[in-house]
Amino acid sequence: MRKLLMLALALTALLSCSRNSDVNIIPKPVTIKQADGDFTINSKTLVRADSADSIALNNAIYLVELLNQKGVGCAFNAEVGVDSTNSIVFTRTGCSDSLGAEGYMLSIGPKHIVIKANESAGFFYAIQTLRQLMPANFEKNDFRQKSVTVPCLSVIDKPRFPWRGLNLDCCRHFMTKDFVKRYIDLLAYHKMNVLHWHLTEDQGWRIEIKKYPRLTEIGAWRTNADGTVYGGFYTQDDIREVVSYAAKRHVMVVPEIEMPGHSVAALAAYPNLSCTGEPLKVETNWGVFKDIYCAGNDSTFIFLQDVLTEVVELFPSPYIHIGGDEAPKYRWENCPKCKARLKSEGLSNYEELQRYFISRIAKFLEGKGKTIIGWDEILEGGRPHNATVQAWRGIDRATEALSANAPVIVSPTSHCYFDYPIEVTSLQKVYSFDPVPTQVDSAKVPLVLGGECNMWTEYAPQETVDSKVFPRMLAIAEVLWTYPRDRNYNEFLNRVRNHYHRLEALGVTYGFEQSAVEFKSSIGDDKKSISAELIKGQDNLTIRYTTNGDEPTESSTRYRKPIELTSSTTLKAAAFNNGNRVGDVFERSFAVSKSLGKPIELGFVPAEKYLGGSMQALVDGRLGTPKYNDGIWQAVQGHDMLATIDLGANQPIKNFSVGFLQNIPSWIFLPNRVDVFVSADSISFDQIAQMDCPESIKRQPVLVYRFNTFVVNNIMGRYVRFVAHNPGPCPEWHPASGSPTWLFADEIVVE
Ligand code: ACM
Ligand code: ZN
Repeated sequence: MRKLLMLALALTALLSCSRNSDVNIIPKPVTIKQADGDFTINSKTLVRADSADSIALNNAIYLVELLNQKGVGCAFNAEVGVDSTNSIVFTRTGCSDSLGAEGYMLSIGPKHIVIKANESAGFFYAIQTLRQLMPANFEKNDFRQKSVTVPCLSVIDKPRFPWRGLNLDCCRHFMTKDFVKRYIDLLAYHKMNVLHWHLTEDQGWRIEIKKYPRLTEIGAWRTNADGTVYGGFYTQDDIREVVSYAAKRHVMVVPEIEMPGHSVAALAAYPNLSCTGEPLKVETNWGVFKDIYCAGNDSTFIFLQDVLTEVVELFPSPYIHIGGDEAPKYRWENCPKCKARLKSEGLSNYEELQRYFISRIAKFLEGKGKTIIGWDEILEGGRPHNATVQAWRGIDRATEALSANAPVIVSPTSHCYFDYPIEVTSLQKVYSFDPVPTQVDSAKVPLVLGGECNMWTEYAPQETVDSKVFPRMLAIAEVLWTYPRDRNYNEFLNRVRNHYHRLEALGVTYGFEQSAVEFKSSIGDDKKSISAELIKGQDNLTIRYTTNGDEPTESSTRYRKPIELTSSTTLKAAAFNNGNRVGDVFERSFAVSKSLGKPIELGFVPAEKYLGGSMQALVDGRLGTPKYNDGIWQAVQGHDMLATIDLGANQPIKNFSVGFLQNIPSWIFLPNRVDVFVSADSISFDQIAQMDCPESIKRQPVLVYRFNTFVVNNIMGRYVRFVAHNPGPCPEWHPASGSPTWLFADEIVVE
């Protein structure tokens, strides 16, 4: 009995001596050669660096501090001995120049570890790799052990891109200083090096500016409809603390101070800076707002220069992000001062006035040794003075920036927006991102600085941020560090699954890799049915579904093979694991009608971002959901929609309908009228219906509405055409009045 107990204790000791045999480094290094054996770091280990080399020395001390915090009492020794058994040597001797400032060589043998780098960042990243080789529980706050063991191997590594960032929107929802510091740790652990800190918005100004105290007294707080007040800001001491914390971890903090748009909180504090001078409240809605800084008013520039003077003192980063996105020109077009400025500067339109605005700020900042970054809209009036561009509306915007010879940071909504649901932007989708546009001249590739993922927080209070950022940030970290030839999704996914233990130890409440249920549909060869395929997000799940409108439960029909739908159906499905539902109920409606799968000719060019899956989106049988980015809606901005379908033969037409989405905050409106025509020969068309948009729903913020007409006379036709009339620019009462509106259609249904 006693012997058995001893054995058990010995076994426990063996297990708790914490050997980590899996090698799962994220991002994946350039080369990694595994070898037999391992190395144990313990109280007798000497961490060595030449005292004359402060860079190696400081990193050696950083490692000793890290290990000592965790109970591994190793010591520092300021010499580099070759005979040094049980040592960790930091040296700048023998590191290849080609590894640059961030590259490193890490060699772990059974007797010692040698770390070589050219610069401090390289040593720091070698230490991060070493950490990822330690047992996962090393990352727990309360980990205390006298030794840790790492496997023998050698790594040679360097990043593909110099700019590897995360944008945290701390305005729509505030994040505490400690939360931001925690994200700096998480960035550094994954070898990311830029925190893009979004600090000013319509809904809150979050940085203390001594000269303009109302920015935080007024601008940092919003009063919700129910009277509750929400807000917060960072004092200048908070900012210095965060910036210095980041610098120690080789993370550059780039502040974003938005102009000329997204500035309602500042205008609420200082209304004299807007075109109208009217009082404003800090915004409580999400969206794009027409009140922006007045470009004709010199006070605006004095104010912004004063603000930026304090900002540049706080942030050593050579870059200042000035926003520049989503600035409706409506106020400028109606402002005497802005009109006068346009004239005096000889500008031909209000996009050029924005360029003037931003160039003026860029020149001011250049005098302070800083370069500006602006979102891709800043190219619209011509590239502002020496601006770096952050492409967000699509990879094409990166191409556009490169054509203007602007350095570019690439972060398209399609792959890099982590506020988008996992159904739309899965881990695999993020992993497929490449910041270099395919059609780019190789001489311009060095202008691609790298990329960022964006965590916008309209719908993401702090406690939900982890579940949106992770695991997707692991994919971005690897896309930006690892060369494409070394990337393979399935292999990455394996490492991610192992890495979850580390994230758990780090206290990260990560979310899903993809939605628990995904679906694909295709039209049957006879064009009389739809085949709906349901795909589970993880192997251990079971999918169950209903077609009668009921919520799926553990006792609903189990999905085994594609479901044939021969009439219009609403399909509801959910994934289950051991009887518990995983994720949300997935719901899609399908229409099976005469128009299904028929040839369609579009009289408009659908937006690339909202194609709805294909040019056949309007006859693919899939009905849209209230989410504009569900991948089903086909859209066009600022134009009417016209489409003609060919039913293949002359036949009676009894009913016609076409569905539209309205999402007023996102500038998506119902058409004000839909006209329907039929023809036997596709040459001469007769109008059979005119359907006006009901007044009662014109101001409803979000809804899906089907324009539907019953055809009473015995109408025959082969070709059916509809024209949906765009209601014109956003109306005066709209926050973005004057901006072109969108039409979003899902499906034509002909019976
Ligand atoms: C942005 O998402 N408006 C940059
Ligand atoms: Zn103005």
